[in-house]
Amino acid sequence: MSDNPTKLLIVAGARPNFMKVAPLIHALERHNGARTSQRPPLDRQLTYRLIHTGQHFDEKMSDIFFRELDIPFPDLNLEVGSGSHAAQTANIMLRFEPVCERERPDWVVVVGDVNSTMACTLVAAKMGIRVAHIEAGLRSFDRTMPEETNRIVTDSLADLLLTPSEDASENLRREGIPDGKIRLVGNIMIDSLVTHLDKASERGTLEKLGLKDKGYIYVTLHRPSNVDAKDSLQRIVQELSATARRWPVVFPVHPRTRNRLAEFDLSFTNGNGSGLNLMEPLGYLDSLELTRHARCVLTDSGGLQEESTYFRTPCLTLRPNTERPVTVTIGSNRLTSVSRLRPDLENALQGPERLGQTPPLWDGRTAERIVQTLLEA
Ligand code: UD1
Repeated sequence: MSDNPTKLLIVAGARPNFMKVAPLIHALERHNGARTSQRPPLDRQLTYRLIHTGQHFDEKMSDIFFRELDIPFPDLNLEVGSGSHAAQTANIMLRFEPVCERERPDWVVVVGDVNSTMACTLVAAKMGIRVAHIEAGLRSFDRTMPEETNRIVTDSLADLLLTPSEDASENLRREGIPDGKIRLVGNIMIDSLVTHLDKASERGTLEKLGLKDKGYIYVTLHRPSNVDAKDSLQRIVQELSATARRWPVVFPVHPRTRNRLAEFDLSFTNGNGSGLNLMEPLGYLDSLELTRHARCVLTDSGGLQEESTYFRTPCLTLRPNTERPVTVTIGSNRLTSVSRLRPDLENALQGPERLGQTPPLWDGRTAERIVQTLLEA
């Protein structure tokens, strides 16, 4: 066995990746004794380089998360930007390959299910570099979602599949992935949430927005299936405009959604008395605070389904399926559609203010378990 530290290349590319790499980076620094003088022997150290693919690039979609999550700025930004799926994936691959050649890592660590996750996995696998996938095994069983392709490709190539929940491990076994590659480690998003709760509650987000605890609906929508077709987006706009006449609605608008609203020339009827507050995308801390205190969350984001479950805030997910079934079976999440939105919202607003339970291993210690698993691997 060599005396050298194990070298990791950690990949992040899009907004939901940053809160997944942050706890890992902090756990690696604790393990390596960066904040004490007690360093493990060289062959037990895990060094890392953080690579940002640049899939997301706006200050509000990227930089703000590095500051709020207290993670170092990336060692390298590949600056790929937007494009079609093929163009974006290919550009990431072209720019990541020389990085792997130069760095020769022992592991490439990828998180989640975005195009950056799949692209970097493909590059590493072809170069014979081991891949660890954090948040492996999630399946919506809906191949129309681009993320489902990313999940299937990534998991079929990865060497270490770090799952957030038992259903995810079970999905992998069913696909024939050997048990030896699968480790149930828990939900790393919740590590970030637990760490940043106090900081989030110090921000005074509700006061700044003039909201009352449990007195508003927090909305985020950006999935292509909801916003890329005019009909669907138009109906969403109508429903939200109607809802906002009765309940304050806070809606930070994702760039994809903003672009589609402009392209389809759609606007909210945001007249007098309307409680609709449309705004730029929010940072991590404000979003946590809004989720925690909302009367109800309406979303199509994976992360918000999980954060709502942790806070036990009733959540309606505007999708026909979810790759995170524990948020429904154990947590506070319910699926809805545009045609059922009005009665489902009504029920949620009349129902209990807190719902469901916290799933197992959503305990803030997932990153520690991942570090131990990498040391053993
Ligand atoms: C991506 C992920 C999705 C994730 C979402 C979170 C894939 C296939 N999709 O979707 O799983 O839920 O991120 O946000 O990887 N744009 C900007 N500024 C930015 C980033 C994007 O203006 O910083 C605009 C661009 O016009 C771009 C559009 O948003 O065309 C969509 O960005 P893209 O990265 O292609 O996909 P997302 O919809 O953000």
